[in-house]
Amino acid sequence: MTHRVRVFAPATISNLGPGFDVLGLALQQPGDVVEVEVSDKPGVQIVEVTGAGNRLTTDSTQNVAGVAAADVLQRIQAGEKRAVVGVRLWLHKQMPLASGLGSSAASSAAGAVAINELLDNPLSRKELISSALKGEYIASGSAHADNVAPSLLGGIVLIRSYNPFELVSLPVPPDLRVIVIHPHFEVETSLARALVNEQRYELGPVVTNLGNLGAFVAALYENDLGLFGRSICDRLIEPTRAKLIPGFQNVKDAALKAGALGCSISGGGPAVFAFSDNDRGAASVAQAMCEAFKISGGLDSKAYVGLINTRGAHTVTQDT
Ligand code: HSE
Repeated sequence: MTHRVRVFAPATISNLGPGFDVLGLALQQPGDVVEVEVSDKPGVQIVEVTGAGNRLTTDSTQNVAGVAAADVLQRIQAGEKRAVVGVRLWLHKQMPLASGLGSSAASSAAGAVAINELLDNPLSRKELISSALKGEYIASGSAHADNVAPSLLGGIVLIRSYNPFELVSLPVPPDLRVIVIHPHFEVETSLARALVNEQRYELGPVVTNLGNLGAFVAALYENDLGLFGRSICDRLIEPTRAKLIPGFQNVKDAALKAGALGCSISGGGPAVFAFSDNDRGAASVAQAMCEAFKISGGLDSKAYVGLINTRGAHTVTQDT
């Protein structure tokens, strides 16, 4: 039987309040799955995309998983002069598109890790991030790493610098629970980015975000969840993007009233995240947020509640 590798890569929350393009974390669920096997045909051939209706192409030069996979294949062939001919790839979308949950990043990360696993892991995770970023670029016109890095590595990640690329994996407090509510409508990342790219920013909100970004990192090292909650504060991006999300302010108010440790927009939205320090509290926060989306935004939504995923993208069995 042909050797086939199956990889799950998790959804992610990026920005996390004060850290536009520089902070992200990995969720347990949802996520995407990519399967690959060696083929005689050169390059990457996408056999099938499931779970996305007919909305995603099987053209491997335009599909994020295909682009990331092809980049990994090229790096391995160039670096090791190995005569790997090509691969066949299946993408199973198991999460919503244009949700703010890092859908394109999960597909890119799964594609990159799957090829590396198939060929016995010659590339480091950092090299795989570079490949996955090529997929992310195809999707949104921007190579931001705050979704692909946590999807690949797990945990909470800070991008210190893009050029040269350097990231820091931050401590994950054991009691921290994350809540993400996905209202059932879409916001294209390219639109959400265009909106904030057009803005001019005053020094005051920049200073506020800088203070909160520093406090966010300090709180994780100190395991100080009170400080952590207060640091989920974004005066730069949230005010602009909130206008794209019906009922956002009421959803945020409901989360905080239910005891959430901070609340803001997940990535480009429309998903909204919050934190709690216990399971019961997290369930109450999730319920309050879903109700607020229904009442104030007229939107049905789905809640994802759980621990932060510290494993990142990994191989799974056929049944997973
Ligand atoms: N940091 C990015 C943004 C994530 O907010 O535009 C979007 O995927």
